[in-house]
Amino acid sequence: MLGFLKHEVRKSRNFRLLDLGAGEGGITIALSEWADSLCALDKDAENAKACGRAISAVDGRLNVDCLRGLGEALPFRDESFDLVVLNGVLEWIGSIANDPYKVQRIAIGEIARVLRPAGYLYTAIENRLFPGFLILDPHTHYLLANAMPRGLARLLSKLTKRPPFGNFIYSYWGLRKMLTASFSKIRFYLPLPHYHIPIRMIPAAQSEPQPSHYWTAWSCLQGCDLPWHMIG
Ligand SMILES: C[S@@+](CC[C@H](N)C(=O)[O-])C[C@H]1O[C@@H](n2cnc3c(N)ncnc32)[C@H](O)[C@@H]1O
Repeated sequence: MLGFLKHEVRKSRNFRLLDLGAGEGGITIALSEWADSLCALDKDAENAKACGRAISAVDGRLNVDCLRGLGEALPFRDESFDLVVLNGVLEWIGSIANDPYKVQRIAIGEIARVLRPAGYLYTAIENRLFPGFLILDPHTHYLLANAMPRGLARLLSKLTKRPPFGNFIYSYWGLRKMLTASFSKIRFYLPLPHYHIPIRMIPAAQSEPQPSHYWTAWSCLQGCDLPWHMIG
């Protein structure tokens, strides 16, 4: 991911990064090597503490603050950051709220607010239309929850006495719709084999990822001459 960001993001002087939903700081440590200053924010106080411990265990990383806070109410002034990283987090934002979609939209608006005018948001999330996720939701493991309207999935989970389905993930079009409310320039990539280990980033131009993307990426994982950002 860091290689991708270094390639795609034009780094300004005094480059400030927000790792939103940083967890215990796994990717924060890698990002802190690159950013001039970095804030790692997480809703969970224990995670924020663990992140602080992980950062202090690395020599010379004095440029990082690990804080507790919510993505939907960011405790920062307008235009505070050059880049916000939201990796595997959007689907957790608002997941126990009555209207998860609304809370996610608020969080995206908050991110746009704290970004400087030429700032970037890097976000990664599961694709709702990936066949395996249509059958079984990757977070709740509810059957067919992503194949039906959200209201029905929530109603069915309540009727079967389980927590209401709230980990909303999106198709290409669904995510684009949410982001365009706050961002004007959006680029999509298919990270392979998964966004947790993005060895190849396939530009997914104007549509859902195609089967041919997977084939090209699979071939290139075995070894090919193209740099990762040219595959597509
Ligand atoms: C799956 S982890 C991702 C951790 C990290 N970004 C990574 O890629 O390794 C999701 C994290 O988001 C945090 N989170 C969930 N809802 C949040 C919210 N509304 N605001 C801030 N953080 C949140 C969780 O506490 C958890 O640490």
